[in-house]
Amino acid sequence: MSVTTTSGQAKIPMLDLGAQYAVIRQEVRAALDGVLEAGQFILGPNVKALEQEVAAYCGTKFGIGLASGTDALILSLRAAGVMPGDEVIVPAFSYIATADTVSLLGAIPVFADVSENTFNLAAGQIERRITPRTKAIIAVHLFGQPADMDPILEIARRRSLAVIEDNAQAIGAAYKGRRAGSMGELGCLSFFPTKNLGAYGDAGMVVTDSLEKAARLRSLRGHGTTKNKYVSEEQGWNSRLDEVQAAILRVKLRHLNSWKTSRQANAARYSALLAGVPGITTPQTLPGAEHVYHQYTIRVSGSTTRDRVQKSLADQGIASMIYYPLPLHLQPMFAALGNKAGSLPVSERVANEVLSLPIYPELTAEQIERVAASVAAAARG
Ligand SMILES: Cc1ncc(COP(=O)(O)O)c(C=O)c1O
Repeated sequence: MSVTTTSGQAKIPMLDLGAQYAVIRQEVRAALDGVLEAGQFILGPNVKALEQEVAAYCGTKFGIGLASGTDALILSLRAAGVMPGDEVIVPAFSYIATADTVSLLGAIPVFADVSENTFNLAAGQIERRITPRTKAIIAVHLFGQPADMDPILEIARRRSLAVIEDNAQAIGAAYKGRRAGSMGELGCLSFFPTKNLGAYGDAGMVVTDSLEKAARLRSLRGHGTTKNKYVSEEQGWNSRLDEVQAAILRVKLRHLNSWKTSRQANAARYSALLAGVPGITTPQTLPGAEHVYHQYTIRVSGSTTRDRVQKSLADQGIASMIYYPLPLHLQPMFAALGNKAGSLPVSERVANEVLSLPIYPELTAEQIERVAASVAAAARG
């Protein structure tokens, strides 16, 4: 792949994991050597240490390492007691895993609209969707910003529902002094390579304060076994985090706060440069929330079309992405649920307007200026 455009300017990708690796190479290689020499590859000392370190980082008592963020959601739903036929309230604007994990268990995802300002589940949309079959709410901290959790937790407490945080995108974010992932009963993390804390392969974790749920999750990830590896107490399956990934993640966790600070500084630069550009809305942060900018997602509206902005960026070798073009309630996968276009207007509107710009920690001020100038020029026509 060429690294320059035809005009000779360096391309700007969505993410530059090579630049990140150049900084942590020695540490990663030493950690890998340690695992290869020890010869234990599944649920060894690095997994145990990572579980404790990530739990401490998130402000919870326990961490349970799993094979992916998707598994973290599936097993959390199981641990929360979600059974076939139960309903789970989920935001309509998220990555598909937030909802297909619910349906995989035979439960029904009930979609609720999101807040126009934060893209996250709007608490005011929840209560009217609660029925006697509702078991849980999944609150997603989309793009690195926590959902407005206090009203969500209050509804859940009053209506006896479990709250699962889909914290795949927001490790290190905070809401009123509490870390994302520590506010509901179970917090689900993804360490997919592009995440703020990313493995070199698939990995995930659930964090929780509940001793009982931690034990259940450990059992579920190992075929439903508890004390005896060859006696299964309940239906489970294999969802293990391996030592190689855990060792790499422990290295990266040491850098996470500094990467977070760089992402936040990059976001502040973009927002200053894009302020007042017609048709562009920069990301808004909820009062009391700390946003960790897994994505820097603008909205493009009015006579400025998103296609025009994206094409102009692409012409200059600048990557951008539409996360996510189709809200969950309109996914073909859920057609049988009968959700109609127009039923969740905010999710549908933002899906038509969002555009994510490169925000990775290694971006330079000059690159940010190039991206912002290109967006502004396209927006002004
Ligand atoms: C919001 C959200 N939920 C769940 C997941 C699933 O995580 P994974 O890809 O590790 O299975 C992801 C990431 O891909 C995500 O962004």
